[in-house]
Amino acid sequence: MEVKKMIVQVCVFLVAGYVNSQIVTQLDLDNIASGLEIKVDVVENLDDGSRHLFKVTFNNKALKSLSGHNWKIYFFSFFIVESKHILSNDGLYTKPEGYILPNVNLKLRHENGGLFSMSPTTEFIGLPTNVEREITFYAANWAVSKTDIPPNWYITADGLNARVIDSTKEGFVGEFTSAKQWKRKKADKYDPYSPMTRYQRYKTTNPNVQMKMVIPTPKEITNHDTTKLLYISGQVTIVHSGLDNEASFLKDKYSFNISTTASTNGVNIYLSINHTILSAEGYTLTVNPSEKSVIINGKTNAGVLYGVQSLLSLLSHGRNIPQMQIRDEPRFEFRGMFIDVARNFIPKKVLEKLMDAMAMYKLNKLHLHLADDEGWRIEIEGLPELTEVGSKRCHSEIEDVCLIPQLGSGPYNTTSGSGFYSIQDYKDILSYAKKRHIEVIPEIDMPGHARAAIIAMEARYRKYSNTNNNEAEKYRLIDPDNESKFLSVQIFNDNAVNPCIESTYDFIDKIVSELEVMHSAVGHPLNIYHFGGDEVAKTAWVNSTKCNQLNFNFSADAESIRNELKNYFTQRVANITFIHGLNTAGWEDGFNAGDGMPFDRDIYQNQQVYSNAWDNVWEWGEARRAYNYANAGYKVIMSHATHLYFDHPYEPDPEERGLYWAPRFTDSYKTFRFLPDNLYENIDVTRMGDPLSKSDVCGVNNKKCPSLQKPENIAGMQGHLWSETILSEDNFFYMVFPRLLALAERAWYKAPWESVGDKTKRNRDMNNDWDNFAETLGKKELNRLDSMGIKYRIPPPGGSLQGDEIKFNTAFPGLSVEFSNKSQTTWNNGTIPYTGSPVFLRTKSADGKRTSRVISFSQVTSSARLVNLSLTTVMFCSFLMYTFLLKE
Ligand SMILES: *[C@@H]1O[C@H](CO)[C@@H](O)[C@H](O)[C@H]1NC(C)=O
Ligand SMILES: *[C@@H]1O[C@H](CO)[C@@H](O)[C@H](O)[C@H]1NC(C)=O
Ligand SMILES: *[C@@H]1O[C@H](CO)[C@@H](O)[C@H](O)[C@H]1NC(C)=O
Ligand SMILES: *[C@@H]1O[C@H](CO)[C@@H](O)[C@H](O)[C@H]1NC(C)=O
Ligand SMILES: *[C@@H]1O[C@H](CO)[C@@H](O)[C@H](O)[C@H]1NC(C)=O
Ligand SMILES: *[C@@H]1O[C@H](CO)[C@@H](O)[C@H](O)[C@H]1NC(C)=O
Ligand SMILES: *[C@@H]1O[C@H](CO)[C@@H](O)[C@H](O)[C@H]1NC(C)=O
Ligand SMILES: *[C@@H]1O[C@H](CO)[C@@H](O)[C@H](O)[C@H]1NC(C)=O
Ligand SMILES: *[C@@H]1O[C@H](CO)[C@@H](O)[C@H](O)[C@H]1NC(C)=O
Repeated sequence: MEVKKMIVQVCVFLVAGYVNSQIVTQLDLDNIASGLEIKVDVVENLDDGSRHLFKVTFNNKALKSLSGHNWKIYFFSFFIVESKHILSNDGLYTKPEGYILPNVNLKLRHENGGLFSMSPTTEFIGLPTNVEREITFYAANWAVSKTDIPPNWYITADGLNARVIDSTKEGFVGEFTSAKQWKRKKADKYDPYSPMTRYQRYKTTNPNVQMKMVIPTPKEITNHDTTKLLYISGQVTIVHSGLDNEASFLKDKYSFNISTTASTNGVNIYLSINHTILSAEGYTLTVNPSEKSVIINGKTNAGVLYGVQSLLSLLSHGRNIPQMQIRDEPRFEFRGMFIDVARNFIPKKVLEKLMDAMAMYKLNKLHLHLADDEGWRIEIEGLPELTEVGSKRCHSEIEDVCLIPQLGSGPYNTTSGSGFYSIQDYKDILSYAKKRHIEVIPEIDMPGHARAAIIAMEARYRKYSNTNNNEAEKYRLIDPDNESKFLSVQIFNDNAVNPCIESTYDFIDKIVSELEVMHSAVGHPLNIYHFGGDEVAKTAWVNSTKCNQLNFNFSADAESIRNELKNYFTQRVANITFIHGLNTAGWEDGFNAGDGMPFDRDIYQNQQVYSNAWDNVWEWGEARRAYNYANAGYKVIMSHATHLYFDHPYEPDPEERGLYWAPRFTDSYKTFRFLPDNLYENIDVTRMGDPLSKSDVCGVNNKKCPSLQKPENIAGMQGHLWSETILSEDNFFYMVFPRLLALAERAWYKAPWESVGDKTKRNRDMNNDWDNFAETLGKKELNRLDSMGIKYRIPPPGGSLQGDEIKFNTAFPGLSVEFSNKSQTTWNNGTIPYTGSPVFLRTKSADGKRTSRVISFSQVTSSARLVNLSLTTVMFCSFLMYTFLLKE
C-alpha cells in the first residue's frame, strides 16, 4: 500500500512537472533564468580552420523542468553557426529556416548579425531539473579566446519579459587547456606564453639602459647638465599673455601663480608665441637654473601646450629639473586615436580621460566612430529616432524601440550596448578636445555598416507613413523593392543603405549640417567628415530596382556593380561635404577601384581626401594600397591592422581580451617598432605566425610592393580601438594603455634607428631604444597614468628557474612582482624559492594598487604539459566525433 502510494505520488509529481513545464508566468521564466546553468566550451578548432566545435552544457537547477516549447534562448557568436545548414546551396543568404540539433531537437537559427537563437521543436526531449545535457554544434572559422564567447545569453517566452540567464553573466566559458582549443588551425604557430617565454621576451642585454626625460622623445635635447638644477618650488610665476588655456595645465597641477609680469625673487616660467619656430606644432623649452627660469616658446598655442606637457613630464620626476634646451616638433601632422563608440558605447567621461592622456603624449586627432550596425551614438536635431531607437539594444521582435542585442549586450537597454551623446555631451567633448588642441573627426559609417541608421529611419518611416508620405520617405535609407540577398562580414543581411535613392543623400546632408552646427557652436569647426565606406557586401545592390534605373552596367559581375555604385556613392558624399566646405575621409576599401588602386582622386572636389590604410594582413597583398593611394593624391593615414589595432590581444593567450583577425596579438613593443616611413620593412609574419620575408610578399623586383612617390601625402598614423569586446571602462583602458604611449612615440618622433638600412643593426638600436622606453614606462609614465585613474594593462611577469630560485622580470622594469602558493591567500615579494610545487606569480601596478592576471610557474616544461593535454583532447574529440559527427 505504502509503496503503491509512493509510486503514484512520484508519478503525479513527474507528470505535473512535465505538464507545468510550459513557461506561462513571468515567475516561471525568472526561475528558469536564475536556475538554468549554462557552461560553454570550445571543444576544438578543426585542423583546416574551417570550423570550430562548441559544446553547451545545460544543467537545470531551477525548480521546474524546461520542456515546453514556447521559449527561446538567444546567444551571440562572432561566426555563423552551422553555416552549411543556414546558408543556401549557392552560398547566398536566404531566410534561414534553421538547423535542428538531431539528438535534442533544439532548433538553431540565425537571427541577424551575430545573434542566434535556439528553440525547442515539438520533439524537444526536455530538460528536467538536475539533469545535465550537452549539445554540440559548429560555427565557422575558430574561437581561441574567452572573449570569443560573449556573456548574457537570455531566454524569452511568448508575452513575457526577456531575462538574462544568470549563469552566463560571467565565468561560464570553460578553460582553454589544449592546443586544439588555443590554435585557430593546425598550422597556427602560436601557443600561450609560458613564464619562461615571457622571461626571454622581457630580458635585456643592454648595459646602458637610461630613462627618457620625456615621452614621446623630443627631437633634440642640448645643453643638458644634470649638475645644474633648477628647483621649481616656493614662489613660481607663469608669465604670459593670451595663453591662459595652456598655462592652466601647469597651474591646475601645481597651483603656480599666473601673471603678465615676472616675479623678481621666485622662479619664472615664461610661455610665449614665437614665430621664428618653423613647425606649426613645434616648441622650444629652455631650463636655465642660473636665471631661475623656464622658457617655453611655441609657434602656435598648440606648440606652447606641447612645451607645457614636456615641462609637466620633467616635473613628474621631481621638482629639481636639470639645465637643458629642448627643440621639438612632430614628425607627422596627423597623430590620431580612433575609438569605436558604436559596437559598445563609451561614455563621455571615459573619452575625457582618454583626451587628457592624448594631450599628455601629444596626440592631436580623435576619430570617433559614431555609428555602425550595432548602434547610433549621437543625437541629431530633428531626427529623434536615431537615438530613441538606434542608440539602444534590447530584446525586440520588430525593433521599434531598440535594435536587437549584439555582442553580448543581452535583452536589457542598460548595458554598454546602449547609450548616446546628447547634443550637449557632444559639444562638451568638442570643447574638451579643443582645450587640448585635439581635432574631433566624426565618422558615420556608410553605405555598409549602417544598420542602426537604417532601422531607425524605418521606425521613422512607419511613424509618418499613414499620415504624410513625403515626410515618411524623406530620410529613408533603403529601397524596399529589391531582392538582394547578402551577408556582411559581421553576418548582417540588411546593413547597406541604398546608394540609388535621393533620400540617402538628404539624410547624409542633414547629418553633416547638424554636425557642423554643433561644431561651430563651440568654436571647434568641423573640418573632416569621415563617411566610413568599408566592407560593403558584394551583392548588396545587384537586384535593386532603384539602382537598375540608374545608368550602370548591370550585366557586369556583382563585384564590379558594387564598385561602380561605391564610386558613385563616394562622389555624392564628397559633393555634399564639398558644398559644406569640408574635407572628407574614408577607410581605404571605400575608395578601392580594384587591384589595389583607388578611384581617380580628381572625381572628388574636396581640398583633401583622407584615407585610412588598414587592411594589411601581409599575405593578402593589400599593404600596397597605402602607397598607391598616397601616390594618387589621397592623404593617407597609416592605420595598419598588424601594428596599430588595439582591439587585438596583447598576447596569444585565451585569457587576453580581443579580436585577432589580423595579427594574433599586438603588444606595446610591436607598436613601438612600427616603421611608418618604410612600410614593407614591417613585413614579419603571417596571420598564423609563420615567418614572412619582404620578398615573399613583394615578389621579384618588389613588383607587388609599389614604392612611395609622394611621401608628403602620408598624413600620419593612428591607433585603433574597435569596441566589440569592450564591455566596461576597465576593458577600454586595458586595451588602449600602455599601447597608446608606443603609438605616440612613433607618431611624434622619428628615431635614428628607423633609417638604418642594415636590419641587424637597426634591430639592435631599436631594442636599445625600446629598453629605455620600457624603463621610462615602468619607473615613471605608468605612475602618471595611475594617478589619473587610467587602469592600463599590467603585463604578467616572466619567470626562469635558476638553481632553486625563480628569477623574474617584467615588461616594464621597476614594476614589482609577487608570488604565492596554490592557495593564493598571502602574497609575498622578494626572492622566490622553488621547491617543486607550482608557484603563482603576478605583477603589481606602478602604484602598487592593482595586479596583473595570475600566472603559474612550475618546473614541468610547458611543452611536456601540452603534449599530455593534447593527447587527452585528441581522445576526447575522437569520442565526440564518433558520437555526433557520424550521426550527422
Ligand atoms: C602667489 O603670489 C602671492 C602674492 O604675490 C604670493 O604670496 C604667493 O606666495 C604666490 N604663490 C606661489 C605658489 O608662488
Ligand atoms: C624667439 O626665438 C628666437 C630663436 O630661439 C629667439 O632668438 C627670440 O628671442 C625669441 N623671441 C621671443 C619673443 O621670445
Ligand atoms: C529601457 O527598457 C525599459 C524596460 O523595457 C523601459 O521601461 C525603459 O523606458 C527603457 N529605457 C529607455 C531609455 O529606453
Ligand atoms: C532591400 O529590401 C529589404 C526589404 O525587403 C531591406 O531589408 C533591405 O535593406 C533593402 N536593401 C537596400 C539596399 O535597399
Ligand atoms: C537576384 O535576383 C535573381 C533573380 O531573381 C536571383 O537569381 C539572384 O539570386 C538574386 N541575387 C541576389 C544577390 O540576391
Ligand atoms: C557590361 O558588362 C558586361 C559583363 O562584364 C560586358 O560584357 C559588357 O560589355 C558591359 N557593357 C558595357 C556597355 O560596358
Ligand atoms: C559632383 O559634383 C560635380 C560638380 O558639380 C558634378 O560634376 C558631379 O556629377 C557630381 N557627382 C555626382 C555623382 O553627382
Ligand atoms: C600556502 O600558503 C599559506 C599562507 O602562507 C599557508 O597557510 C598554506 O598552508 C600554504 N598552502 C600550501 C598548499 O602550501
Ligand atoms: C616588498 O613589499 C614591501 C611592502 O610593500 C616593500 O616595502 C618592499 O620594497 C618590497 N620589496 C621588494 C623587493 O619589492
